[in-house]
Parts: sequence; structure tokens; C-alpha cells
Amino acid sequence: NYYAILMAGGVGSRFWPVSTETFPKQFHDMLGSGDTLIQKTFQRLARLIPQANIFILTNERYNDLVFEQLPQLTERQVVLEPAMRNTAPCILYASLKIHKENPDAVMIVAPSDHWIEDEVTFSENVEQAFKFCEKNDALMTLGIQPTFPNTGYGYIEFDKNSTDAIKKVNQFREKPDFETAKAFIAQGNFLWNAGIFMWSVKSVIAAFKNNQPDLYTLFENGIPMYNTDKESGFIEQNYPLAENISVDYAIMERSNNVYVIAAGFDWNDLGTWGSLYEKLNKDDDNNAVVHARTLAQDASGNMIRTKGDKIVVVDGLSDYIIVDKDDVLLIYPKTKEQDIKQVLKKVKDTF
Ligand code: GDD
Ligand code: MG
Repeated sequence: NYYAILMAGGVGSRFWPVSTETFPKQFHDMLGSGDTLIQKTFQRLARLIPQANIFILTNERYNDLVFEQLPQLTERQVVLEPAMRNTAPCILYASLKIHKENPDAVMIVAPSDHWIEDEVTFSENVEQAFKFCEKNDALMTLGIQPTFPNTGYGYIEFDKNSTDAIKKVNQFREKPDFETAKAFIAQGNFLWNAGIFMWSVKSVIAAFKNNQPDLYTLFENGIPMYNTDKESGFIEQNYPLAENISVDYAIMERSNNVYVIAAGFDWNDLGTWGSLYEKLNKDDDNNAVVHARTLAQDASGNMIRTKGDKIVVVDGLSDYIIVDKDDVLLIYPKTKEQDIKQVLKKVKDTF
């Protein structure tokens, strides 16, 4: 009864120029390991979950990339979204589909672009959560020990007095402002939401029914067509009508049956070039190099990546992102990594 849905519809614009709208980061070998991020995620989940029960949710324009990179998939396992509507619609849609084929399913919802090296502990944590979800009406999240008031994450306030590994959540707050995040961290009983969720299909469907009745009704109408040849017509017509909302706002902030299990493994959501730099091996001068052969002199802390194994010579430049890709060369300070989204916009407007 174990299932997974893998979300792979994001664009990853802060990883430009490698990640682009037509070829986003989850389909790239960002770590230089030989596997793309979605391949690594699939393998990690397949330790615990039968491959045939792993579903991929992505935009229809990534259809070819998905089947090229995961040739073991059948069409049944791939949900192609005709429009970008954030994570709530795709999660409800896939949950209804899975419920139709197995109403006793418990499942994990995972992003396809995160870094998790310790796959053994990851599987143990997920299995522990699955066992809990089989017995309880619970929406479970994986919690990460916070290190600074990051405003890009969800925050989970857990019950201080509980000594259990799985704790009841008092409050789930998506992307608080900086002052609130600071106060949360000072309080001590807050974790970051890793964006990885576990629940039974029954519990998650009930949560949508209670908190997002419009979305629920929209997709409930399609149930007779799911997993039949009428499904693609239904999704083409109805999916674009769904509200654009993330699962965090749609159900997690609104439910009172949320539980958290603290992750026993290191986690990184690979959101920016700097977070990738943190996770890569460094040379003697602390430069992280993917693919390139680099000669660095008086140069440290750089994130260097080329296509193929091009030779890169750097002298007198530190803490920069140096990325070479076909028609774009980016040389940009690591401290301004968050601005790459805007840079991309400017580039599009200019050229
Ligand atoms: N299929 C599909 N369709 N996937 C999508 C869509 C969509 O329309 N939109 C986003 N995704 C995928 C992204 O590719 C990513 O893997 C995942 O869903 C999460 O989306 P993000 O856009 O990266 O969310 P976030 O980073 O703002 O916030 C979430 O993740 C944080 C941890 O990284 C939240 O869950 C936060 O609470 C959490 O802390
Ligand atoms: Mg993210």
C-alpha cells in the first residue's frame, strides 16, 4: 500500500542559466554525480516504495524529459498538467487517482529537486511515518532543525512536552516575515518544513474536502474518468480552472491533525547556486567545480560549472558563480544569488 508522488513541475529560475523553462533543474545533473536530480529522487524513493507505485506530476511540456530520464515509467504513473497551478491542485488530483486504484494507500509527497544523501535514515523516517499514517488520521511533515530565519520556508511549531518521535503540530506557518521567523527560532520548538509530506490518501482527500471545497468538487467530477481514455480530455479542460495555491496554504496551515517527524538526515532544498556549492566537494581553495577542469590561482569559494569538461582558468576572483552554458556565460557574485531570478527577467526583456 505504499505510494509516492514526485512533484517535478517547478522551473528553478535561480539556477539560470543551467535551469531554464524548457529544461528545469530537476532534469539536470546538478551535483555532477552522473544522475539527474529526479533520477536520484526516484532511486531514493524506490528503496521503500514499489517502482510501479511512484507517480510523477509535472507540466505537460516536460513529458519527453520524464520518459527519457525514467524509462521504467508507464503512462499511468505520469500526470501531465496542462497549466502551472502550484502544488495543491496536482497533489489533490494525484491523490484522487491513487485512491481510485487503492483506497488504503499511504503516500509520500516529495519534491524532485532536493539533496538528501543519507538514504537509509530517510527511508527509516518515512517508514515510521507511514506506519503512523496507517493508524491515524494524520497529515505528516518532515521537520528540519532551523539554522537561521529563512523566510522562504514553512515553520512548524511542535508540542514541547512530547517525548515521542512523532509530535503533534500546534501551528504550521508558511513563509513568515523575517521578524516572525526570528521569534520562532528564538522560541526553540520550531522546525522548518522540508516540503515532504506523508499521509493516507483518505486523510489528504478529507483535508482538501474540508478546506478547499471548490478544488475538491472540480476534481471529484473527474473520478469516473480517471485511469480511462477520457482522463486526458478531463484534465485538459478542468485543470486550468484550479486555483493557483500551494499545499502549504491550501491544507497544512488550516488543518489541526498535522504531525511532524524530525528528519534524522541532512537535507538541502538546492534552491540556489550557493546551497549547491555547500553540498559539493571543494578543491584545496574551496572552489566547487562541476564538469570543468579548473586551474585556480588566488581564487577561492567559487562555484564553477561548465558544459563538458572545459578548462577554466581563474585568477583573482573569489566567491563567484561561474557558469558556462551554450549561449550564456554567467559570472555573478555568490552573495547576490537571490537576484538571479531578476537577472533572467532582465536578460529576457533585453535580448
Ligand atoms: N507538478 C508540479 N506542479 N510541481 C510543482 C508545481 C506545479 O505546478 N509548482 C511547484 N512544484 C514543485 C517544485 O518543482 C518543487 O519541487 C516543489 O513542488 C515545491 O515547490 P517550490 O516552489 O519549490 O516551493 P517553495 O520552495 O516555495 O516552498 C515549499 O518548500 C519549502 C522547502 O523547500 C514549502 O513546502 C515550504 O513550506 C518548504 O519549507
Ligand atoms: Mg523550493
